[in-house]
Amino acid sequence: MIQFFHVYKSFGSENPALIDVSLTIEKGEFVFVTGPSGAGKTTLLKIIFCAERPTSGYVLVNGRNLTRIKDKELSLLRRRTGMVFQDFKLLPNRTVFENVALALEIMGAPFSVIRKRVHQTLKYLDLGGKEDYRPPQLSGGEQQRVAIARAIINSPLILLADEPTGNLDQDLTVEIMALLKRIHIRGTTVIVATHNQELLKGTRRRVVTLNKGRVA
Ligand SMILES: Nc1ncnc2c1ncn2[C@@H]1O[C@H](COP(=O)(O)OP(=O)(O)O)[C@@H](O)[C@H]1O
Ligand SMILES: [Mg+2]
Repeated sequence: MIQFFHVYKSFGSENPALIDVSLTIEKGEFVFVTGPSGAGKTTLLKIIFCAERPTSGYVLVNGRNLTRIKDKELSLLRRRTGMVFQDFKLLPNRTVFENVALALEIMGAPFSVIRKRVHQTLKYLDLGGKEDYRPPQLSGGEQQRVAIARAIINSPLILLADEPTGNLDQDLTVEIMALLKRIHIRGTTVIVATHNQELLKGTRRRVVTLNKGRVA
């Protein structure tokens, strides 16, 4: 469970990115975070990912207070959270296998385990046979699936997706959204930030709307 209590985030002198945000996201929920550009969506996800700390207020993830977390615990916590981005953020000079394996390598997993897990995950995301490709050799949709593979390789409890379809056309958008739903059905909490109202049309999911840093 993710809980925000009166969270403010300010980057210096500009208007705060988040203002008095309080919300609860249950374990296993699928939530959209929406709002116009600059509303604070990315900042909200980054706080859950421990890539930013609130200026004030606090955030609990499964009862752990992220605002008090020590650096040593940080890597452990991050392992339980995967994140994907609009621009994929893959390492262009590394193969698909290497990109996906990285998180497991950092954890010190044995190569036999890494190989098995990476192959399983790539197959799950319909990327079997692409192991030795480098990201620039792949289509946008394939690159995003590699990024999702990398994000879920550790079986995270939470998957954060920041404008995951922002660089993709309509068909690939549908494909990536279906994939995120599939991951959600396995029990993962999924949070998708998007300014794209098309994505929300007809959804039965919960939608959290941000407006200038406030929950609308
Ligand atoms: N690292 C940063 N430094 C300064 N300002 C930032 C930084 N990150 C975000 N902001 C500002 O915070 C506000 C919210 O940004 P962001 O969370 O990226 O919004 P969104 O993802 O909804 O477009 C914006 O005004 C943005 O300029
Ligand atoms: Mg953003």
